[in-house]
Amino acid sequence: MMTSIRALGMVLFLLFAVVANAQERPWGDALKGSGNYDDFEKPQRCASCHKDFARQYEQAMMSQAYTHSWDEIEYFKLAVPHGKKDPKFDPVQEGCNGCHAPLAFIAGDVPPPKPFTGSRADESVSCDICHTITGSGEEPPFNFSYTIEAGKTKLGNRDGLVSPHHETRKHDFTVSPELCGSCHNEKNPWDLWVKSTHLEWKEGPYSKEGQRCQDCHMPAAPGRNSMMSKEHADIAQHLFTGAHSPARLAGAVELSVFPDIREIVPGETMKITVACFNHKVGHKIPSGSVEERQLWLTVTAIDAEGKVYHLPVDKKGFEGEEYTISSNELAFQDMGYMMDIPDFKGLPRDALPYEGDRVFRMAYFDPEDRMTIAQWNTARFGTDYRIGPRETKLETYTWKLPDNLPLGKVRVVAEMQYRRLIKSVGEYLGVPAEEMKAEFINRAETQFETVDY
Ligand code: HEC
Ligand code: HEC
Ligand code: HEC
Ligand code: HEC
Ligand code: HEC
Repeated sequence: MMTSIRALGMVLFLLFAVVANAQERPWGDALKGSGNYDDFEKPQRCASCHKDFARQYEQAMMSQAYTHSWDEIEYFKLAVPHGKKDPKFDPVQEGCNGCHAPLAFIAGDVPPPKPFTGSRADESVSCDICHTITGSGEEPPFNFSYTIEAGKTKLGNRDGLVSPHHETRKHDFTVSPELCGSCHNEKNPWDLWVKSTHLEWKEGPYSKEGQRCQDCHMPAAPGRNSMMSKEHADIAQHLFTGAHSPARLAGAVELSVFPDIREIVPGETMKITVACFNHKVGHKIPSGSVEERQLWLTVTAIDAEGKVYHLPVDKKGFEGEEYTISSNELAFQDMGYMMDIPDFKGLPRDALPYEGDRVFRMAYFDPEDRMTIAQWNTARFGTDYRIGPRETKLETYTWKLPDNLPLGKVRVVAEMQYRRLIKSVGEYLGVPAEEMKAEFINRAETQFETVDY
């Protein structure tokens, strides 16, 4: 009897604790309006002691998640008007801020004042946001499911440190990839995982080996973590380089190219193979904003007289393959509805230098089954033809050599490039050209000889 009363008491206590905890610390949509701007300290305050981290972090995209021009354009030209026209999307446009402008979201200031008008929304994902996040209300984490307790205690990765400005302690959630997942996984109104960087990592080989997001995006180096602290051997650098860093993109996929024959008579047919090995990325490439990223492979042959031949990729025959081969047919018609442009015909789908190149991607389709760059307006995915962590994809190029190909050496060049935003879309919306720049991923070369038998 005694023990069962005690057990009941325990259950009630636990229940109360869970409920109280849930009431105290909202997450997701309930974060909206749950606090004030003043609850959080400005990054400049942290910078006065953690100078190196501040200088590193202000170059990273997360410190500009609200002010960066393409974010501003997509939010104010497409998402906000879409929410006004169609109430279903109103909570969605509010939710953008849960990840891009957490301070404004928590303060209930949505849509926030436009960037660079002096509001604290500009602080984007600030130091004090990450260092006061306590956990996730969802498992797996997604859609700003973080719980947060602003205040004196800054959660970190070491125990027993002393700061004149704040309390600090090691916190399991801060050092976990789930912290990142709370913003790097996103589910849209159709329950589709329109961002799944954390889930891709979790399913892949790196999570099994214990290599976290932090280990690649905040690599450890000897040094000091504030101007007044002692040296540690493994200080977590706040670099967070990603798709905006040419150095991080370079070499992300290794390429090898080889022909099936070394000596061949003009007029005959041969096959060239390119192996694409993702040996550097802890998740799929592209990841994150998959709807607007392009990773593509161009293969050209250069004959003995310097003439260049573009080789289109061989079709493999899988369903939906047409969306993984570059084409300029029209797409993105849903932008016309959002922007109130009647009879909007759409924009060239890939706008790449050549048609017929392999594009490693997963296409996003709107409810009318047209390709879209609005992840919130995505009702279906195309075939996932991205390159997974440590995956190798082989692409082949069958080439019937021209009869008049000059005799001698033929060089074959495979080049992989990456674009953050589809050129036609960016140009149409007035996004700065930098955002549509083709970035170099890798290049490989082989050769064969044309002979006269
Ligand atoms: C007056 C100086 C000062 C200011 C201002 C300051 N810190 Fe610190 N902070 C320190 C010192 C000193 C330590 C302890 C460093 C050590 O001993 O290695 C520390 C430690 C930390 C740690 C724990 C590091 C670990 O390895 O676990 C975090 C996290 C942190 N600070 C975040 C912040 C954030 C976020 C802000 C701004 C909201 C901030 N700090 C403002 C001086 C400061
Ligand atoms: C996107 C989230 C995020 C942001 C933004 C962020 N940090 Fe951190 N910070 C982390 C994580 C995660 C760690 C622990 C790294 C690890 O586990 O390897 C960390 C570690 C630290 C440490 C301890 C480093 C060490 O190895 O001792 C300090 C100090 C710190 N951060 C201060 C700051 C300051 C100052 C800023 C703003 C300029 C900032 N952080 C912005 C996530 C963040
Ligand atoms: C509060 C939400 C939030 C959290 C927590 C968060 N991120 Fe981010 N992160 C973002 C947003 C939003 C962007 C997009 C910034 C932009 O380009 O507008 C981003 C961008 C990035 C990028 C840059 C991508 C590029 O295009 O260059 C990297 C890398 C990154 N995050 C890594 C991390 C890691 C690692 C963690 C965990 C330690 C983390 N993030 C935690 C919201 C978050
Ligand atoms: C083994 C190292 C490694 C690990 C682990 C890793 N990444 Fe990355 N990440 C990379 C590389 C390399 C790139 C650049 C290629 C690219 O953009 O896909 C990248 C790119 C990114 C980007 C930009 C993606 C895009 O295409 O816009 C984000 C965001 C990101 N990582 C977040 C994370 C998060 C969150 C985790 C943990 C869940 C993580 N990364 C784990 C290596 C890693
Ligand atoms: C669950 C968190 C989350 C939500 C909600 C969210 N985003 Fe993002 N957003 C991110 C992250 C993380 C990235 C970076 C992904 C990557 O690197 O590819 C990003 C990237 C972007 C980018 C591309 C940035 C670049 O530099 O290329 C734009 C534009 C953008 N978001 C706009 C929006 C809009 C508009 C909404 C609302 C309709 C929204 N986001 C909702 C987390 C979120």
